[in-house]
Amino acid sequence: MFRRHFLTLLCACPSTWALSPDAVQDLLLRVPNPDKIREWSAYYTKESHLPGEGLDQGQWTKALWRDLGIPEINLTSHEANLTYPNNHRVALLDFNRPDVLVHEAHLIEDTVPPVGEGQKPFIPAFFAWAGVGNVTTQHIFANFGLREDYEDLVKANVTVKGRIAVIKTVFGSSLLRDLHMGVHRQEQMKAAEDYGLAGLIVYTDPQLDGEITEFNGYNAFPDGPARPPSMIERGVMTFSGSTSTVPAMPISFADAIPILQALNGHGPLATEFGERWHGGGLGYKEVQYNVGPSPAHVAVNLCNQPTFTRGHLHHVIGTIPGSTFPDEVIMLGSHRDSWGPGAGDGSSGPAAMNEVVRSFGVALAHGWKPSRTIMFASFEGLEFSLPGTKNWFAENPWLNTSAFAYLDVVSAGAGSKFHVQGSPLLGRAMRYGTGLVQHPNSKEKNQTMLDVWGGQVSLGTGGDGSVIQSTALVSTVDLGFSAGDGDNPFPYHSLYDTDDWMDRFGDPDRKYHLTTTKIWSLAVFALANDTLIPVTVNEYAVLMRKALDSIEMPGLDLTTLDQAISHLHQITLAFDEYASTLSRQISSQPDDPGLLLKAKDVNQKYIAIERHFADPQPPPGASRHLIIPRAPYYFQSSAFPALHQSIVAGDLSVAETYRDRIVGRIHEVIELLHLDDSGTTLSQPLKQWAVSLNPDKA
Ligand SMILES: *[C@@H]1O[C@H](CO)[C@@H](O)[C@H](O)[C@H]1NC(C)=O
Ligand SMILES: *[C@@H]1O[C@H](CO)[C@@H](O)[C@H](O)[C@H]1NC(C)=O
Ligand SMILES: *[C@@H]1O[C@H](CO)[C@@H](O)[C@H](O)[C@H]1NC(C)=O
Ligand SMILES: *[C@@H]1O[C@H](CO)[C@@H](O)[C@H](O)[C@H]1NC(C)=O
Ligand SMILES: *[C@@H]1O[C@H](CO)[C@@H](O)[C@H](O)[C@H]1NC(C)=O
Ligand SMILES: *[C@@H]1O[C@H](CO)[C@@H](O)[C@H](O)[C@H]1NC(C)=O
Ligand SMILES: *[C@@H]1O[C@H](CO)[C@@H](O)[C@H](O)[C@H]1NC(C)=O
Repeated sequence: MFRRHFLTLLCACPSTWALSPDAVQDLLLRVPNPDKIREWSAYYTKESHLPGEGLDQGQWTKALWRDLGIPEINLTSHEANLTYPNNHRVALLDFNRPDVLVHEAHLIEDTVPPVGEGQKPFIPAFFAWAGVGNVTTQHIFANFGLREDYEDLVKANVTVKGRIAVIKTVFGSSLLRDLHMGVHRQEQMKAAEDYGLAGLIVYTDPQLDGEITEFNGYNAFPDGPARPPSMIERGVMTFSGSTSTVPAMPISFADAIPILQALNGHGPLATEFGERWHGGGLGYKEVQYNVGPSPAHVAVNLCNQPTFTRGHLHHVIGTIPGSTFPDEVIMLGSHRDSWGPGAGDGSSGPAAMNEVVRSFGVALAHGWKPSRTIMFASFEGLEFSLPGTKNWFAENPWLNTSAFAYLDVVSAGAGSKFHVQGSPLLGRAMRYGTGLVQHPNSKEKNQTMLDVWGGQVSLGTGGDGSVIQSTALVSTVDLGFSAGDGDNPFPYHSLYDTDDWMDRFGDPDRKYHLTTTKIWSLAVFALANDTLIPVTVNEYAVLMRKALDSIEMPGLDLTTLDQAISHLHQITLAFDEYASTLSRQISSQPDDPGLLLKAKDVNQKYIAIERHFADPQPPPGASRHLIIPRAPYYFQSSAFPALHQSIVAGDLSVAETYRDRIVGRIHEVIELLHLDDSGTTLSQPLKQWAVSLNPDKA
């Protein structure tokens, strides 16, 4: 209560009492603290918090944010279909030896983090929305389970249909990244459906881990940094959140060894296929990587019989109302649910976000008020492909016209590789944030994160941002540190993703977490602080120009697209010039209602730009964004995703359709940003807004 009164008093103070922008900036750099990050992470990782299990952690987060001084906080509840493991089995059988169980997979890690009394236990091996069934049949090895892999097998006369395929996980594969063949686990499942597999068994091959493997003499976690042989990568198997037809189960590489050994000498060797098939890391365990099939008397039994239930997802939404532009919203968020403890994936984002919240709480307590509204979101459901954002946006349609930006963090610090992926409209804010934070590994060189990152937002999205960007077309970035080449293998989606791993092998000083936290706060501050949203629209034209230069398809005439991009380039240069002149005028006459009105108009245009890039008729399930792909940070991807896809598919008429849609949308943005002689034109609602904002002066 005391805090409330204190804040109310401060809010009534003259604005000269408020903190200067420099002082806020300084607070945002000084407040985040590694011990606090550890404390928040210890809370989130202490028990299972799968989608549907998050009410307690939601309530705790809400109470914490209230204590940290966020004025308005809602805990929302959304009914959802949920699924959890129940009956399951992966076993190797030999019908010639019916009395012997050749091998039965453990389906849980050797070390399971203990949970306290009354707390939720961590789950065993599980793929959400995999097919339900109990199949026993001959098995094959199908590399990464890509379409191309099945094609190779079919060409080699290896029967794929009706078999159980053993395949490798794809997350973090530098090989697939270098081959430009990054895929999601869900695409592995789609390929399995299309090729008629009877079942999928997915294991994590140590080939992912570069130098840091048991084979090279490293001890496995918890004794060292190498990937534990019993680690299991859980995950979701469909994008839609509905059940697949192909049963599937993740297993550890320890359990994959006997199943793959049973193929030794049967069918071609993986190395007889192309480069993509090379590099399997279990050779030292006498796995020869024959593709099979297993002899007729050897089979795998795969049973997946999960439970299905109705439950609820809970999001925590905290709001700091804007003082000048309350209807312009800057959002930041992360998903709170995870597969295991989730110290890296699922809990590092929320832990960092609590430090962002705490930093802004301190600034508020010192009398600072943002110009526009800041909204913090702790979402639940992403790991089951039930992104909280879907239902939340549906229930808050005003976000469609008010939300300018969404800044997402999934992994605040699980390695040394920094990424910023999303919309070029957030480039300026990200450069501001990264420019003020020193790179955690280059003290002697005195490099900022901006020096190291380079300042250009790359293509893609991440986390809940992928939904917000691809369906609501809010300008989005996903940022953070994840495991890169040469880092200790990240125990992704497993019960080894613990604070202990983080303390010893992931981010011991929490320096990556801290760096993410500061950049996140500063970028949000820049977006919410000034009268004009800091945007350089021309960056969009530059991105498109670069992308256009790499498009090539015989017969596809790109003249109209080329001209539209050139026109956009000119218009955006002029618009950026107009905005920067306006910004200077506002600096010298901050209370001039006419200038504020012009600023509002510019901001509304910034909010609208991204929406204009929506595909009017997207194919079911596809991203609506015509320019920026939905791919997460571990992919390389191309701009103009739908156009690109039709070119890859060699479909000229579809490519022409997408070209024309993109051209049409660019023309809309050109019209939106067109300046008439008196500057931009103001609509009637804007004039009313100006009067309501400042009735005395208007
Ligand atoms: C929070 O809840 C209140 C009361 O239910 C509602 O009026 C408000 O719009 C909600 N705010 C957000 C951001 O969901
Ligand atoms: C839940 O699943 C049922 C049955 O598959 C489906 O009819 C329903 O639409 C789903 N509900 C939600 C909220 O997704
Ligand atoms: C699954 O199938 C196997 C082999 O046919 C059988 O032994 C087992 O009892 C079945 N399990 C369940 C849960 O139905
Ligand atoms: C596959 O089978 C066909 C027909 O039996 C045969 O012509 C072809 O040579 C075989 N291909 C390979 C790679 O064995
Ligand atoms: C948001 O706007 C898009 C069109 O830009 C529309 O399709 C969608 O239904 C809107 N969403 C809501 C919740 O109003
Ligand atoms: C680091 O570089 C900045 C300019 O980029 C400079 O202002 C600062 O003094 C330098 N600090 C050290 C310790 O060299
Ligand atoms: C914050 O806004 C003030 C004016 O409102 C401006 O002078 C200052 O440059 C802004 N700072 C940042 C980092 O946006």
